[in-house]
Amino acid sequence: MKTARRRLLRQAGALGVLAPVTQAWSQLPSACAPAPQCRLACGPTGSATAGPFYVTNAPETVDINTAKAAGKPMRIGGTVYREDGVTPVPGARVEIWHADAAGAYHPHGSGDISRYRRGDINLRGATRTDVAGRFAFTSIVPGQYGSRRRHIHWRISAPGHVPVTTQSYWVEERGTAIEKADRTDLGAEDCRWVAFKDEQGTAAGTFDVVLKTA
Ligand SMILES: [Fe+2]
Repeated sequence: MKTARRRLLRQAGALGVLAPVTQAWSQLPSACAPAPQCRLACGPTGSATAGPFYVTNAPETVDINTAKAAGKPMRIGGTVYREDGVTPVPGARVEIWHADAAGAYHPHGSGDISRYRRGDINLRGATRTDVAGRFAFTSIVPGQYGSRRRHIHWRISAPGHVPVTTQSYWVEERGTAIEKADRTDLGAEDCRWVAFKDEQGTAAGTFDVVLKTA
């Protein structure tokens, strides 16, 4: 990954776009705006543990709060890109799962989804990116649990690319006591800290993904 990152940084430097963006980052609400320069600087999306609550064969749905659990509405969308950080990847499989507003997973376990009753399954789903590499899910904002900062789990795969399992975070928690207490996934790159905005009562965020070439 380091070689690819260096190459991307060289490309960014050649384009003359990296330096001004780096200077501007500290003034932005997010450390990483969804822009080509930012993706070039971050490199391929870093990996993080799936944790103990990953269930295989999650439902194919983009409205993942199928049980209508209480919470602040959330929309999280983005684009999956090739390793160049510019070319979209249509047909990529994007899967997310996260805790409910009280910090509990549904089911609160792992294994195949067939092990669980329909009513035990919520806040999990998978979709495919469209022709422009885009995806979007609707759900509710997850709560914190244990020593973890607020997060969403992701698993993204596409033919010809290295699958990535990762987590995204809330940029406003960066540098806080909550983050410092969380010893999981230290050093997550800027692009995995999402700046959610309130859009008519919905927390709306963008999470772009860059896949390494297989
Ligand atoms: Fe988790």
